[in-house]
Amino acid sequence: ATIYLKDYKEPDFLIETVDLTVELGEEETIVTSRLAIKRNDETATKLSLNGEHLTLQSVKMDGHMLTPDEYSVTDEWLHLPVAAITSEFSLEIITRIKPQENTALEGLYKSSGNFCTQCEAEGFRRITYFLDRPDVMAIFTTTIVGDGDRYPVMLSNGNLTLQETLPDGRKRVTWQDPHPKPAYLFALVAGDLAVVEDKFTTRSGRDVKLQIFVEKGNEDKCDHAMTSLKKSMKWDEEKYGREYDLDIFMIVAVSDFNMGAMENKGLNIFNSKYVLASPETATDADFDGIESVIAHEYFHNWTGNRITCRDWFQLTLKEGLTVFRDQQFSADMNSAPVQRISDVQGLRAAQFPEDAGPLAHPIQPQSYVEINNFYTATVYEKGAEVIRMIHTILGEENFRKGMDLYFERHDGQAVTTEEFIAALEDGSGIDLTQFRRWYITPGTPEITVNEKFDAETGQYTLTLAQTNLKAGKDPEPLHIPLKLGLLDVNGNAVPFSDGPFKGETEGVFDLTKKRQSFTFSGFSTQPRASLFRGFSAPVKIRQESSDDALAFFFAKDEDLFNRWDAGQRLASNILLKQIEDAGDGTSLPSAFLDAFAETLSDKTLDRAFTAAALTLPGEQDIAQKMPVVDVDAIHRVREGARRQIGLTFEDDWRRIYEECENAPSPANQPASSSRKLKNTALSYLIATGQEEFITLADSQYRKSKNMTDSVAALAGLKDINHPVREAMFADYYEKWQKDALIVDKWFTLQAMATRESTIDDIKALMEHPAFTLRNPNRLRSLIGAFASGNPVYFHDKSGDGYRILSGVIAALNKTNPQIAARLVAPLGQWRRYDKDRQDLMVTELEKILKLPDLSDHVYEMANKSLHN
Ligand code: ARG
Ligand code: ZN
Repeated sequence: ATIYLKDYKEPDFLIETVDLTVELGEEETIVTSRLAIKRNDETATKLSLNGEHLTLQSVKMDGHMLTPDEYSVTDEWLHLPVAAITSEFSLEIITRIKPQENTALEGLYKSSGNFCTQCEAEGFRRITYFLDRPDVMAIFTTTIVGDGDRYPVMLSNGNLTLQETLPDGRKRVTWQDPHPKPAYLFALVAGDLAVVEDKFTTRSGRDVKLQIFVEKGNEDKCDHAMTSLKKSMKWDEEKYGREYDLDIFMIVAVSDFNMGAMENKGLNIFNSKYVLASPETATDADFDGIESVIAHEYFHNWTGNRITCRDWFQLTLKEGLTVFRDQQFSADMNSAPVQRISDVQGLRAAQFPEDAGPLAHPIQPQSYVEINNFYTATVYEKGAEVIRMIHTILGEENFRKGMDLYFERHDGQAVTTEEFIAALEDGSGIDLTQFRRWYITPGTPEITVNEKFDAETGQYTLTLAQTNLKAGKDPEPLHIPLKLGLLDVNGNAVPFSDGPFKGETEGVFDLTKKRQSFTFSGFSTQPRASLFRGFSAPVKIRQESSDDALAFFFAKDEDLFNRWDAGQRLASNILLKQIEDAGDGTSLPSAFLDAFAETLSDKTLDRAFTAAALTLPGEQDIAQKMPVVDVDAIHRVREGARRQIGLTFEDDWRRIYEECENAPSPANQPASSSRKLKNTALSYLIATGQEEFITLADSQYRKSKNMTDSVAALAGLKDINHPVREAMFADYYEKWQKDALIVDKWFTLQAMATRESTIDDIKALMEHPAFTLRNPNRLRSLIGAFASGNPVYFHDKSGDGYRILSGVIAALNKTNPQIAARLVAPLGQWRRYDKDRQDLMVTELEKILKLPDLSDHVYEMANKSLHN
């Protein structure tokens, strides 16, 4: 059934306190829940509690045992009659569950022999009957009872208040969380885990015990996570004035987890991928991922937990805001432009296609069938861009004032995005009436740009028009911040001679009309406009730019994001032109080669930036610019161009490789920047096709003591047929087979390979003893990586790629519908391909829709993919 935002109604009843006792067993787990309930609607005669996959044992109301004819139970509800007069009463509900059989990984389940929970969004209802909605906030006391030998560690939210051994030998612990919270923030963990400890003193002097729990043997892989946590705690105090509010903060790493991590109050549960790292076992990208996810979950303590969502239509209230905060944090900890480039790459790769396809939705969806399908790039990443635009429009100081008021006004509440915006308006004094449209508008706005220069008056006029095909007919215009700088012919910044930014070289202009002109004066020659600096709005720019103009910005723009972006646009244009001319990518215009050479030899740049600037746009970036995607042609010209760039600059690549390998990183640059650039050089050298560089990759692999360099060597050779390649992949598996996260990389590299044998390789890997559909990381490492990261073979003309995917979706539909549904999206892009591929993709979507016992999750995604 579809749920609509417009139907939102306050809850009829509230739950003041929850007293849970969870008796963990090998056969079954018994949950006793004592609830103090308060009426919130005078007229309600029935109390309906959510509950799924539960066996109800008994219900007591105010101490009186109800007989089965006094209540009714369905697959999804427990309905209890409640006399209209009762204003407060208690319930005691006993249910039985089987966590060991829970393959959906929602609610209470077992991972590697340990109990753990995932309750967001609606998992708590798989533990006990409850008002499982975020606007019902209760104070939780949790008692865990179980075998103390098997489960010496027993954790829940808040503070540990009691720990004892029962007469029957079982262990019993009680945790109390003083902060009222919705059920989705509940957590419980029990297992035989190792712990790494540290502490943090908040600026007001509270000593907080920090604990990271991991499987035994992984204690030495927690340093980076712990450091990241302490940095996050400090940053949130300094940047937002937010302190931690309990005496203990725990993180648990589990190996079976549907998503990245979860911000349960005081007890974050993480996919081990975002905790465990050492230079030998994790790449630099893994380290960055850990830093940002640790920060993200920690920041949720204020943006998500202290102030939560009224209902799930408000998801972006906490997610968009928290992603924005973690991006700001990462930018402060690392190179800000490099961080911004990677944020935007992520947005363009995942969110732009979503927003252009059948699954497009506003950051605040207006309806859903299954809320788990809305933990999307749009709600998260575009949501973060929307917050960033508010930050850009308000400016740092006013944004902080608005945030301060938001925290002050709504602490302890479950609120809406509207209340958030109102607090930012009131705190800053800046009107956001028109800006609000971003929340309800799907689709990526396109901005057409026209320039006019009047040599006589010295006036330069920029005219911008906004359109959005997904926003309905003739949509009202959005309020779009345009960060702009003007350059003279030599690339020097020209200060504005009048207007609000007089004397400055950069300003933020408000684009609020469908079509709007900005005039600047005082020029003797036509200036060049650097538009949407820092990607100041999540839009696509439609501008006829010559190769020369793009090369100019690529070489000169002081805004490093725009400098990078100009290079990407230039390269895309060239590759698209080659595709049009049925070329092979090898004839590259001199405007491009000259600009490339300039960046190649510029030693003032951060090496990580140089690496990004010298990397061609990905095949999927280019695909987005084609009316009908031709995966083979894109691959052909991009590989051809890489080969040509490798050959043309071979000596430079050799020099760079040597410098990055042997000379220390320049001041203020992390060693990871040097590795990034070195491995970019390696990849171009390999692209030349010369045997010498296969040997170079081989020797890098053999010498390597860090995972970044090892993976770069594997990645460099993954597409070729060569004994060195086979030996390297075999050695890597042999060496690391006991470490699941490292084996995941082995699957991913092969899933993304483009060799003639790829499809057969993937089929064989699905039969590999280490492959399983049950572990989400493993599944994503092979199938997810193949469907989203290997356009050439996923879209193989045979249709095999599509069939592999739909087969996996069918197999997962019942066991883990959440993960199954996430795999549907690549098929949903069918309209972007040629007729033959369309037919093949549609056939698979139709097959999926006919699956017996089709889950709501998969149904919603496949149905929208086919019909929207
Ligand atoms: N709130 C978590 C985070 O972003 C994600 C939880 C996702 N859960 C889900 N069932 N979709 O930090
Ligand atoms: Zn989050």
